[in-house]
Amino acid sequence: MDGMLLNYLLLGLVILTLGVLLYLIALQCIFLWPTLFGAVFVPSKEAQIRTMLALAKATPGERIVDLGSGDGTVLFAVAQEGLDVEGLEMNPILVKRSLRKANALGLQERISVQRKNFFHIDFSEYDVILLYGITYIMNKLERKLRKELKPGARVISNHFQFPNWQPEREENDVRMYRMNPPAS
Ligand SMILES: C[S@@+](CC[C@H](N)C(=O)[O-])C[C@H]1O[C@@H](n2cnc3c(N)ncnc32)[C@H](O)[C@@H]1O
Repeated sequence: MDGMLLNYLLLGLVILTLGVLLYLIALQCIFLWPTLFGAVFVPSKEAQIRTMLALAKATPGERIVDLGSGDGTVLFAVAQEGLDVEGLEMNPILVKRSLRKANALGLQERISVQRKNFFHIDFSEYDVILLYGITYIMNKLERKLRKELKPGARVISNHFQFPNWQPEREENDVRMYRMNPPAS
């Protein structure tokens, strides 16, 4: 009887250990994926957000998106200007956190956040793209944006620059790129 009890205890311990291991691996996937293949989460600073908004000159009715919206810091600032804004974020914990805070701030009508990889999104309907990325995504993202954005659309990038696209304006380490009509 003692031997059987010991077996059950050992089995329980093995199952518990496997459960904990699986949980840790899942957490690593959630946090490692953006770290390895996208930008790590660091919120934009208040001063940069102000500059991003000033350079974007977004107007009501325009479709605005923050690529990699993190905890929603930029989304809240845009919505507080009376504008509707979308967030795309691949980290589910940050998506939840930003939606919770949007509710707490009473901004839920203006903000939508989707758990999506922005490399899988078609940008052709957007007027304003906000971005705080990281160096190694900028080349690929530039090619995608320039292929898909409509003429007149603006991309506002905090800190990181596109390798081949000349910014129209630059201020306070923030750059504004405008999609020009194709040369005729
Ligand atoms: C530097 S943070 C910026 C957060 C927010 N935009 C801000 O300025 O405060 C970058 C965010 O992009 C997310 N991210 C990175 N690559 C992504 C991708 N391909 N699709 C969606 N989100 C991505 C990361 O999870 C991270 O939260």
